[in-house]
Amino acid sequence: MKVAGRPYRTIWPSTDGQAVEIIDQTRLPHALVTVRLATLDDAARAIRDMLVRGAPLIGATAAWGIWLAVRADPSDESLAQAHASLLATRPTAVNLRWALDRARARLQPLRAGERAAAARQLAVEVCDEDVALNRGIAAAGLPLICALAARKPAGHPVQILTHCNAGWLATVDVGTATAPIYAAYDAGVPIHVWVDETRPRNQGASLTAWELLHHGVPHTVIADNAGGHLMQRGQVDLVIVGTDRTTATGDVCNKIGTYLKALAARDNGVPFYVAAPSPSIDWSIGDGLRRIPIEERSARELSHLAGRLPDGSVATIALLPDGSPAANPAFDVTPARLVTGLITERGVCAATTAGLRELFPDRAGVAEEPTR
Ligand code: MRU
Repeated sequence: MKVAGRPYRTIWPSTDGQAVEIIDQTRLPHALVTVRLATLDDAARAIRDMLVRGAPLIGATAAWGIWLAVRADPSDESLAQAHASLLATRPTAVNLRWALDRARARLQPLRAGERAAAARQLAVEVCDEDVALNRGIAAAGLPLICALAARKPAGHPVQILTHCNAGWLATVDVGTATAPIYAAYDAGVPIHVWVDETRPRNQGASLTAWELLHHGVPHTVIADNAGGHLMQRGQVDLVIVGTDRTTATGDVCNKIGTYLKALAARDNGVPFYVAAPSPSIDWSIGDGLRRIPIEERSARELSHLAGRLPDGSVATIALLPDGSPAANPAFDVTPARLVTGLITERGVCAATTAGLRELFPDRAGVAEEPTR
C-alpha cells in the first residue's frame, strides 16, 4: 500500500542483503519509523514486543527470523532453537506455527550449506503468497459489499464495522478484513468504515485509522462500546474482522472484544464476516473455546497509554489508581454459530466443518471435536 505516494510492505529484505526491515508499528500513528532486524533475537523481539503484529505478519516475520538464524548458524541445533524461540513469542496466532513448521520441513532435509539460501527463498515465498491470498480475499469479499451497496438508497454508503487491525499492517500487504474494503473503495463503491478503537493497545485507533486515512477511505473511530448502539440504530450494514486462528469447525479467535461485536451483530441481524486466509486456519482443532491458547499480555498495556503531546513528542501516562490490579486477555473466541461466513482466498463459505471442507477438500477433516 502507499503512504504519501510511496509503496510499502510491512517487511522487506534490506538493500544490502544482510537483514530485514520492518515498519515499527509501536510508533504509529505518530511516526513512520523502520527498524532493521539482523539476528534471530531481533526477529523474536520484534514479534514479542509487537513492533510487528497481526497473524499473517507474525508468520512472515518468523520465516525471515529462520533465515537470520540459519544464515548465522545452519546446524540442526540452530534450526531447532530458532523454531522454538520464535514459536514462544506469541501463542495465539496459528500463522506463527504454520510458517515455522513449513520452514523446518523445507530446511531439515537439506545440507547445512544449502540452508541459508533455501530459508531466504522460503521467506520471500511466504511474503508473496500472503499478498496473493489477501488479493483472493479482496475478490471474494467485494461482491458482499457490492450487494449491500445495491440495496442502499442513493447517497448512502455501505457502513462497515471492523475491529482491531486486520489491514495491510497486519499482513505483508493488502490486509485481510480490509482487503474487500480497499477493493470496494477502489472500485468506487460508496463505503464508510466504523473503526473500533480496540482497547487496550488501540490497534484500531492507531493503525486501522492511519491506514484508511492514507488510502482516503471514509472512516470514523469509535469507542469499542459504541458498536452495539450503532447496530441498534441501523448504522452498521456489515461487520468484517480478521482472525488469529479459526478452527476446522469455524470457531474464530480474534482480538479481544470481537465476540461482543458478534453477539451484537446477531441480535441486530447484521451480517458478521471473518476474513480468514488459509494459514490462519488450524485444521487440527475443532473446539476453539477449549483448544486455542489465549495470550495474556502485560497489565501495563491497560494501565498506561501513550499519546502525542501538543509539542509533537509522545508521552506515556498512567490511567489507573496506583495499586489497582489489571488483567489483559488479548483474544477471545467467537463461536462458529455467530459467524455469517468466512471470506477465504478460495471464496466465501459457511463457518462450519462442511463449509470449510467444501472450499478446502485438500486440508479439512482433521478436527477431532464436533462443532458445538
Ligand atoms: O495482537 P495483535 O495486534 O497481533 O492482534 C491482531 C488481530 O487480532 C487481528 O485481527 C488478526 O491478527 C488478523 S490480522 C489480518
